[in-house]
Order: sequence, then C-alpha cells, then structure tokens
Amino acid sequence: MAYRKILVTGGAGFVGSHLALNWKREFPSAEVVALDNLKRRGSELAVPRLRAGGVTFLHGDVRMRDDVDAAGPADLIVECSAEPSVHAGYGQSPDYLVNTNLTGLINCLEHARRTGGDLLFLSSSRVYPIAGLRALPLVREGDRLVLAESNGPGWSAAGIAETFPLTGARSLYGATKLAAELLIEEYRAMYGLRAAIDRCGVIAGPWQMGKVDQGFVALWMVRHLFGGALSYSGFGGDGVQVRDILHIDDLFALAMLQTADWARSDGAVFNVGGGAGNSVSLRELTRHCAELTGRRLDIGCDAVTRPADIPYYVSDNSAVTQATGWQPQRGIDTILRDIHDWLIAGRAQLEPILGL
Ligand SMILES: NC(=O)c1ccc[n+]([C@@H]2O[C@H](COP(=O)([O-])OP(=O)(O)OC[C@H]3O[C@@H](n4cnc5c(N)ncnc54)[C@H](O)[C@@H]3O)[C@@H](O)[C@H]2O)c1
Repeated sequence: MAYRKILVTGGAGFVGSHLALNWKREFPSAEVVALDNLKRRGSELAVPRLRAGGVTFLHGDVRMRDDVDAAGPADLIVECSAEPSVHAGYGQSPDYLVNTNLTGLINCLEHARRTGGDLLFLSSSRVYPIAGLRALPLVREGDRLVLAESNGPGWSAAGIAETFPLTGARSLYGATKLAAELLIEEYRAMYGLRAAIDRCGVIAGPWQMGKVDQGFVALWMVRHLFGGALSYSGFGGDGVQVRDILHIDDLFALAMLQTADWARSDGAVFNVGGGAGNSVSLRELTRHCAELTGRRLDIGCDAVTRPADIPYYVSDNSAVTQATGWQPQRGIDTILRDIHDWLIAGRAQLEPILGL
C-alpha cells in the first residue's frame, strides 16, 4: 500500500531509523516522520542521517500524548520506541520501562483511533516466559547448546513457534510487550484498527548502539575493533547460549510485505527472526569477530545468571513464511561484515559513544 504519511516512533533508534530511511528511499513521495526523545545514547547521531534522507525528525516523547499528536495524522504508525532491554526494571523503578513501552503504545493506539492509520508493532520474543525457555532440553555440542529432543509444546528443531505456552513470568519488558499485543487486539476488535505484530528475536546491523544490556552483536564487534572488556555471562559463563540473528534490512523487507497486503497481515502475530540457520552462540560470535578483525580478545567469565537470562532462543519463522513468503536473506557473515564496515567507516564519531 502506498502510504502518504508514515510515523515511526523511536525513529532515531536502531530499528526505527532504518525503517524510516528505507521507507523514504522506497517511497520518495511519502512523508516520513521519525519521533524520538533521544533517550538511547547514540540515537542523536540518527538526526542528521534522517534529515539527509528526507525524513522529518520530531523530538518528542511517546509517554506524552500531545507529543504523539504533534506528529499529525498518519496513514501508518510503526511503533519502534521502547526501553528495549529485557533487564530493565530489575532492582530499580519500572516507571520508565512501563510508561514508554505501554503508555507510549496506548498513546499511539489513541492517535490511530482518533486520526486513522494502520499499526505495525515491534514486539519481542521476550513475550515467552523465562521458565519455559529455560526448561527446554538442551545439551552442549561443541561451542553451543543444541536441543536434545526434536520437539515439544510450541518448539521444534525449527525454533520457538507462536504456540509456545505463555504461562509464567517473562520480565517486565516482556510483559509490556505482551500487554501491548493484547491492547492492540482490543483496538482491532473495538475500533477496526488494522494492525500487525512481529515478535522479533535478535535484530542486528549497522547503527545499533550495542551495549551490555541490549545489542550484543554490535557490542561484540565494537569491543573487537575498539578494545574493552567482554565476558560470557550466565549459565556458568561458558558462552554457549544461542540466539538467532536477523539483519535489519530483512526486517524492512518483511515490513514492506506486511503493509502491502493487509488482507493477510491484519491481526497477524508472527515470530520473526534469523531462524535456525542464522543462529549463533557467544563463543561462535567471538570466533567470527576474531576472524573478521584479526584480533583475539580474552573473554571474561561471569557465571552468574541474571533473572531474565535465557540459554536458547531461535525463532521458528514457519508461520510468517507461510503467510507472506518472507524469509531472511542475509546470513551471519553479511550481518557481521556490515556492522564491521560501519564501525570502521564511522570510527571517529562512534568510538566515543560505543567504546569504553
Ligand atoms: N533490536 C532488537 O534486537 C530487538 C528485538 C526484538 C524487539 N525489538 C523491539 O524493536 C523496537 C526498536 O528497538 P531498537 O533495537 O531499535 O532499540 P533502540 O533503543 O535502538 O531504539 C528505541 C528508540 O526509542 C527511543 N525512545 C525511548 N524512549 C522513548 C520515549 N519515551 N519516547 C520516544 N522515544 C523513545 C530511544 O531514544 C531510541 O532511539 C523496540 O520496540 C524493541 O523492543 C528490538
């Protein structure tokens, strides 16, 4: 669908800035507005990039309804604003997390209800409960954990499916995402909102301001290039925990398909990620980074498992592939190469923000 105006909340963040710029590139006649309060360190670097790409930057906070309304009516809202760390809220106030992730989403829903417009929501694999994911039968094989059985409720060798049981605690981050999904469903039923929800696994690529709590793929490459300490943390500190990784451009490709065909997308809730073929353990990631950079780091070991740590997550993309035909096209090598090249090219600007 050719939208005339697209509002991307969190539009100066890693995902939001990519989607906003790519959308503008794909549809030059569309007005694309990126709203962001620049809370994430490094998001300020997106502002000139957005402007140079023809995207309007609006400094605003999704927690404030007036700020969202200041963007004016949009045909499509892509909700990418968030406190995106699953570790947020532990041992500290949950206010910022809940108010941004949940109140912010409600403000977007209200904006859409009053002014019209479709919604694409960036949810998370973290809607699935921690205890359930920790209970997966895993064994160590070489440098990674693998599933010891072929399938169980909501999971198989292909990964975690949308049918994975939802009972149990999931972190406040995960709870805000699941609560947001429920509210979106109600707005669809009550107000006729058209909406699609993507439960994303790890997304990576250039312009991700990786830090210990979120964006570990970029962080790993940053440390290999700019120096600084890294450690394997949790589950004994062996570095064998596994995640699937999705290139940000593959996510954009999916967003294009979903928003072009609402007859299929409306009401859909999909697990979206790199998939089993694009999964990596921390030890394997270290090896990839060392090969690309020619630098071998002594990785520390922090055996303590934090409350929200999980040992294994791989997205089963079967449902989204069946519905849209979409599959990730870019493998781990491409993802790491793109991050590497971005860090090298932008070193002077990026090292003060991402280095130690
Ligand atoms: N990156 C991933 O691996 C991943 C995985 C699953 C889901 N997601 C989801 O995708 C979305 C985008 O994540 P990201 O990786 O781009 O994170 P990010 O931190 O790079 O981007 C989020 C942006 O939101 C902005 N923001 C924070 N609070 C705000 C507020 N109150 N008002 C306005 N803007 C605010 C930040 O400044 C930042 O620019 C989030 O909803 C996240 O939960 C990301």
